[in-house]
Amino acid sequence: MSKVSVSVEIFIKHLIFLKNLLNSMRQVMQVKWPQASEKNILKEKESTSLATKPICLTINGLSFSYPEQTNARVLDDVSLKIYENEFFTLLGPSGCGKTTLLRLIAGFQQQTAGEILLGNHSLNDKPPFQRPINTVFQNYALFPHMTVAQNVAFGLEMKKFSAETIKETVSHMLSLTQLENEAHRYPKELSGGQQQRVALARALASRPKLLLLDEPLSALDLKLRKEMQRELKHLQHETGTTFLFVTHNQDEALSMSDRIGVMINGKIQQIGTPEEIYNSPFNRCVAEFIGDINFLEGVSEQNSIILAGGQLLPVQPVNDGFVTLAFRPEHAKLNRQSGLLSGYLKEIAYFGTSTLYYVDCEGQPLIQVRSQNITDECTPFAIGEKVHVQIPQHAFRVLAS
Ligand SMILES: Nc1ncnc2c1ncn2[C@@H]1O[C@H](COP(=O)(O)OP(=O)(O)OP(=O)(O)O)[C@@H](O)[C@H]1O
Ligand SMILES: [Mg+2]
Repeated sequence: MSKVSVSVEIFIKHLIFLKNLLNSMRQVMQVKWPQASEKNILKEKESTSLATKPICLTINGLSFSYPEQTNARVLDDVSLKIYENEFFTLLGPSGCGKTTLLRLIAGFQQQTAGEILLGNHSLNDKPPFQRPINTVFQNYALFPHMTVAQNVAFGLEMKKFSAETIKETVSHMLSLTQLENEAHRYPKELSGGQQQRVALARALASRPKLLLLDEPLSALDLKLRKEMQRELKHLQHETGTTFLFVTHNQDEALSMSDRIGVMINGKIQQIGTPEEIYNSPFNRCVAEFIGDINFLEGVSEQNSIILAGGQLLPVQPVNDGFVTLAFRPEHAKLNRQSGLLSGYLKEIAYFGTSTLYYVDCEGQPLIQVRSQNITDECTPFAIGEKVHVQIPQHAFRVLAS
């Protein structure tokens, strides 16, 4: 064999070796980053443990429009299941249709389409007073001319329970809600938190199969609200009642619920545990509504995404063309050496337990980076300084468009 052909053969062998090396590096780099699958979108992701639990409430394809709204639907094909003893929260912005959905479940309004079942029984033709469902309203709606004990006894008297049962139940409910000493007071003689507890005691006294709670904590100040959140959870646990709780407060929803249904514009966008909703929001509107989040725009390129600033990310895109990546500010870190993104520090907001940095990175919207204040030292960064943002691979979510 001539010297030339030996050199060519060695050269080709080198090429093959390099190609194999590149391929294996690519496989290592090509991490399958978590992304919301089609299945866990609008529909419920049913784990096997949930599938075996008895169902309290089933809502199938519920739609509704107020008579004067001919073209816009307030509720659009809403479907969900709530399990027995579950603390389920309906979370959504003001005007998205939360109260309307509760009114349909309670029977105060009739749906345009769809079905509501309690256990296996359809509620479609049942008037409100025949539904074993109670509601706690935002303004408590206590009877002002009745004492606390009379308010709590009211529902039981309407249902013609014996005097003895009523006495026992009222006493039990007042003890559960720590209102024994207020039994003979009138609502106007109570604080907001106490009125709230009377409303809960009254609603729970007749042992409803389902308790609907429409923003019941929104009139309370922050400290009392936090106390009541814990009490409410405790009460639900003690009584074993299924709660359908409505709020537009994401912290409340995340900290109290077994599962959350996120509702936007009359549609259920995602149902999941607080962790699923926070860590794997399916689409941009859920991600935007739950907590602080950063979005990066990019274009899919085979098995990667190229960011607007030119950086190549080994992320499997969900679709061709433009894609949106999201990451939480607490998953990113600022430093002066290197990072996926770089830019200038534009603003610093101090929150006591953490500090939020806003970085102006070329080609991207303002990026937020949250750093926990573990020591009492001042921030090491100054406004206007050039900084780099490190984002670990696991922090990224590829959102459906
Ligand atoms: N009686 C009514 N007649 C006509 N439209 C109504 C009526 N009640 C509510 N709406 C409209 O229906 C939509 C949903 O209202 P709904 O009260 O269910 O929202 P929500 O999610 O409970 O809001 P919030 O968080 O502010 O309480 C809104 O656009 C509202 O203006
Ligand atoms: Mg409402």
